[in-house]
Amino acid sequence: MQLPTPVYKPAFNITRASHLVSRVSDLEASRAFYCELLGLVVSDEDSSTLWLRGLEEACHHSLVLKKGEPAVERIGLRVLTEEDLDLLEAHFRAAGFPTAWVEIPHQGRTLHTTDPAGTPLEFCATMETRPRLFAQADAYHGACALRLDHFQIVTPKVRESLDFYNGMGFRLSEYVTKDGSLEMVFLQRKGNPHDIVFANREGPRLHHCAYQVPETHHLMHVCDLFVCRDQEGQVEFGPARHFSPGLARFLYLRDPDGHRVELFPSHYHTIDIEEEPVRWEAPGFKAGGWIVPPDRWWNDTMAFAETGR
Ligand SMILES: [Fe+2]
Repeated sequence: MQLPTPVYKPAFNITRASHLVSRVSDLEASRAFYCELLGLVVSDEDSSTLWLRGLEEACHHSLVLKKGEPAVERIGLRVLTEEDLDLLEAHFRAAGFPTAWVEIPHQGRTLHTTDPAGTPLEFCATMETRPRLFAQADAYHGACALRLDHFQIVTPKVRESLDFYNGMGFRLSEYVTKDGSLEMVFLQRKGNPHDIVFANREGPRLHHCAYQVPETHHLMHVCDLFVCRDQEGQVEFGPARHFSPGLARFLYLRDPDGHRVELFPSHYHTIDIEEEPVRWEAPGFKAGGWIVPPDRWWNDTMAFAETGR
């Protein structure tokens, strides 16, 4: 299989996965899940929206929850400078995708566009900031979620997504093939295994977002908390280790509306130029290590509000 040639010096600098904008049916139920159990903190709120961040995050939000019919609005990515934002807008427009400049609370100038999979995207170069709380011991609670790490999108357009994101400077860290075609691609900008993952399923839909937690025992501890609240049905898969891309220990949870969140304590670095993408062959790799993923982990995904699929 011919992989695309890496683009080490793209015309603009996308830096990382930044934030997720989702709709939830009950803000208080979501606050209990994300703040009391996962450990996120509230940066701001009003009657219809919660803006949340992890304990080590200085930027205003990594998760925006809006009251509404459950769905995902947008995947948020950051660029380094305002100039990068202008160059990115020209890139998407030249590629034939719609672009729009929008005003978003607590963010700088923001670009809305879409990718070849149809994923609704949101780019910005700046946000308001808040104090990092990672040195404040009494802020730690629940799973002590530290920072947003990555998203996983399902789409039949895995190859198109790889080529498009590779062209924007994303590097392929790992990939899964099945019968000679691409099943999954893991793409990164920030120097760990992934900022965004595309997996071969009907889509575009969101499979999960992922937050890093401090230690493996936080995965166990948050499971205990769910059991104590008689909410163990929201613990979907894990704790275990991926003997598959990323090799991280993991836990997958479902929020009160079915949005899936992964928690994991560590990832490896992949930065240097000589590092080649790691290939995995399906069905030989073990997504859950010593336990088998439930069917719903493979098949349940969340629609984007914009596409409704
Ligand atoms: Fe993940």
